[in-house]
Amino acid sequence: MKDTLCSYYTNSSDITRYMVRRLNIDNKDIVLEPSAGEGVFIDGMLNRKPAHIDALDIDKNAISILKDKYRSRDFITIKKTDTLLDSTLDHYAAIGGYYDKIIGNPPYGAWQEYEKRDLLKKKYTGQYVRETYSLFLLRCISLLKIGGRLSFIIPDTYMFLNLHSKLRNLLLSSTKINEIIIFPSKFFPGVSFGYSNLSIITLEKADRTSSLNNTVKIVKGFQSSSEFELLIGNKELPDHLNEFYLNQKDIYDNAQHRFIIADNQVKESIVSTSSMRLGDVADVVTGFYTGDNKRFIRALDDSVKNSKQYKKIDPSLIYPCTSLSGIENVNEGYVPYIKSASSTRYCRPNNEWFVRWDKDTILHYNNDKKARFQNSKFYFKTGITVPMVKSSTIRACLMSGCVFDQSIVGIFPKNEAKLYYLLALMNSNVANELIHTINPTANNSANYIKQIPYIEPGEDLFNEITSKTKKIIDLINTGSYNKCEKIHQEIDDHFRNIYAIN
Ligand SMILES: C[S@@+](CC[C@H](N)C(=O)[O-])C[C@H]1O[C@@H](n2cnc3c(N)ncnc32)[C@H](O)[C@@H]1O
Repeated sequence: MKDTLCSYYTNSSDITRYMVRRLNIDNKDIVLEPSAGEGVFIDGMLNRKPAHIDALDIDKNAISILKDKYRSRDFITIKKTDTLLDSTLDHYAAIGGYYDKIIGNPPYGAWQEYEKRDLLKKKYTGQYVRETYSLFLLRCISLLKIGGRLSFIIPDTYMFLNLHSKLRNLLLSSTKINEIIIFPSKFFPGVSFGYSNLSIITLEKADRTSSLNNTVKIVKGFQSSSEFELLIGNKELPDHLNEFYLNQKDIYDNAQHRFIIADNQVKESIVSTSSMRLGDVADVVTGFYTGDNKRFIRALDDSVKNSKQYKKIDPSLIYPCTSLSGIENVNEGYVPYIKSASSTRYCRPNNEWFVRWDKDTILHYNNDKKARFQNSKFYFKTGITVPMVKSSTIRACLMSGCVFDQSIVGIFPKNEAKLYYLLALMNSNVANELIHTINPTANNSANYIKQIPYIEPGEDLFNEITSKTKKIIDLINTGSYNKCEKIHQEIDDHFRNIYAIN
């Protein structure tokens, strides 16, 4: 069943206590809980005696629990409504805000029916309407009075992903962000998603000038949620907690208004100011999708990772074809395919996957709604592959004469002479650290890889790195893996010097 409500209630007193304290509630405050659930945050606020609380939720079961629980509290109004579309809230937004405080744990990525998506697209023009938490954040900022405060627990993707750049524009120019704390989603009992961390953002609605003049405090490195309390009352923090202070105007001026949180000043400045990026010297693109992988893809044999559900290739059906219109004169034919991450860096010892590529199947791909014949001018060309899903080290490999999958980012140097230098760069720790700084979430998509700063050394060093990289490839091709590591380390050290990152 599709999850339309995402009712993961906040079941952590460390989180509730920290968020309620961050709001500085007083007895004149009108407060909104926009996705109230069973009222965890309301319970946390009761002893602070706000003047009024509006508790909203779309779910009738949650509403009946709230009504029962707060029967005798006449300062709490409970309403079953859709917070994103409610007309009273539209009015509050139109008069420039109504609430002094807003607290919430809005639904993340809740499934929206197509009809509702259309409504949301009209109402929240230009926003990414498939992510509910960011719409809740936008909505609630519009409902805050100037000087009003908000505290939300949400994924941290709004800080980094390109699709949230409009939201960042608004956040940075119409609110003073007090504090963002970032922590693993497993701190939230019952929730654990791999694609990003969770964050708690506390902000104050403000005019543009004071917003851009503001300094944001960001804290990460938490080992447990009990450490959140240390931030209240400015207690001394343990060494493993990292604090960053970023000027909102600087974040606003970054490409796509992206937050750049580097553990090192040099990295931060290279990422935000570099004049040359990978996208300037190479085409960086994603690959092909058959529309039905089990039907059209074959694995070499049972030893190939994650190949259980795939049929194995009959070697007599592999053809040496590099044509986009397919293999001529055969009923069934396959070409090499790059799909998953490689077990080695620099090059793949053999072809593990094959994709069906006879003429009739190509016709099918071109007409099938699910198939994606995208960036086809790069199929079979010589380039570099990087898997889209991040791992602790990037394993970039040479590819030639293959089609590559949509889970792979293909890097095709505009000048062939840079091929081996770029291959070495993409395998270096420096590139790995830079891509994590650009986008710390689990996604390595082409749009972020393009942003990696590009620095080219003098001719001698460039040639040395190129020939060392070729040497590694020769060693891998002759099975001498053990000799590669030392050369790889030497190249890695060169990149540390070229980028001046230690
Ligand atoms: C993640 S739960 C949080 C509940 C509560 N704030 C807490 O922290 O325990 C999200 C809540 O949002 C409600 N919800 C989902 N979509 C909504 C919408 N469009 N308008 C109002 N409430 C919504 C769900 O019913 C659910 O109770």
